[in-house]
Amino acid sequence: MTGFKEKRKEKLESKVRELVHPTLEPPSPADIMDLSKSIDYSALRGKTALITGAAGGLGRGMALEWAKNGATIVIADLNEKAGKETVEELKKISGSDSHTFVNCNVVSWDAQVAMFKQAINASPNGGIDIVVANAGIGESDKEAFSLDGPQEPKKPNLLTLDVDLNALVYTSHLAYWAFGQANKNAGSPRTGTLLLLGSVASLTNTPETPLYGAAKHGVLGLFRSLRTPHLFTETNRNKSKDGKTNVKVNLLCPYFTDTNIIRDESGKKALPDFVQLSKIEKVIEAATRLVTDEKGGKALVIMPESLAKGRGKGGIWELERLQAKL
Ligand SMILES: NC(=O)c1ccc[n+]([C@@H]2O[C@H](COP(=O)([O-])OP(=O)(O)OC[C@H]3O[C@@H](n4cnc5c(N)ncnc54)[C@H](O)[C@@H]3O)[C@@H](O)[C@H]2O)c1
Repeated sequence: MTGFKEKRKEKLESKVRELVHPTLEPPSPADIMDLSKSIDYSALRGKTALITGAAGGLGRGMALEWAKNGATIVIADLNEKAGKETVEELKKISGSDSHTFVNCNVVSWDAQVAMFKQAINASPNGGIDIVVANAGIGESDKEAFSLDGPQEPKKPNLLTLDVDLNALVYTSHLAYWAFGQANKNAGSPRTGTLLLLGSVASLTNTPETPLYGAAKHGVLGLFRSLRTPHLFTETNRNKSKDGKTNVKVNLLCPYFTDTNIIRDESGKKALPDFVQLSKIEKVIEAATRLVTDEKGGKALVIMPESLAKGRGKGGIWELERLQAKL
């Protein structure tokens, strides 16, 4: 009897472990990303990618790389001048006129709905294949959390959370909508790829920028939940009920990289000199690996090699070698 009870308890415990900590299962070697493999650029050909915040920085880098390899790019940004200039550059390097700019402040739900509709209309293949929730800003309120504040409490400026987290949630929600809608009339199943911009700040403390750290930890939480099928029912939001759409959700976690986000209004680097920077090319390589990889649920961290301490390859390493069951 005792043996039976013990066995039942063990079974229940293992079920709870599996339900509550599905990501703690040991990875199967087939699930680990092979970072020495060359990138399959052909996977970009004919695809349409909507990238928020792509008028500059990392988003612009992805746009250039992917357009060079046959993708159509929709750049969404509130910086109209830089956005339009980037589109002209995309046209030149790709020899294609299909790239477009959409003026959008991602904080606004209505503006994001319009952005997605414009992107679908502009897409030569009638749908969106890749969405990168990339638009982001640095710390919006450097005076928050102070013991030496004014006599009357001052409401903190939470724009960092609005842009880096809430707007990214809108973009992700609309990406699922767009992937599902575009495929309703499609003949064969199609896969949509959602790439979320996290950061090393998703993984570690950032005492100088607590709002940024909170937003980026939120992005990690969203990624972990979206990539995993439901725990208590047979639901998997990454497969549509009609079997026509699959979704891959991935996360990119760069370390400090030399873009405008680490610079002040005058363009001066707002970090001490001893802080090493990641190479933009490495961040773009990691993003390209993620959007061209056949599997979803992957997270890559990009750091200067000296800080990566031998992890991964060339300063890129897989955060959790743990594949959500898709
Ligand atoms: N560069 C880094 O050190 C670093 C490190 C980790 C993560 N990231 C993340 O990478 C992403 C891209 O940042 P970046 O480094 O290219 O910075 P960046 O400042 O060069 O580019 C950000 C882009 O987002 C746009 N943007 C800002 N607010 C917007 C809004 N409300 N609506 C629409 N567009 C908006 C800007 O106009 C700009 O073109 C961000 O999510 C950032 O948090 C950057």
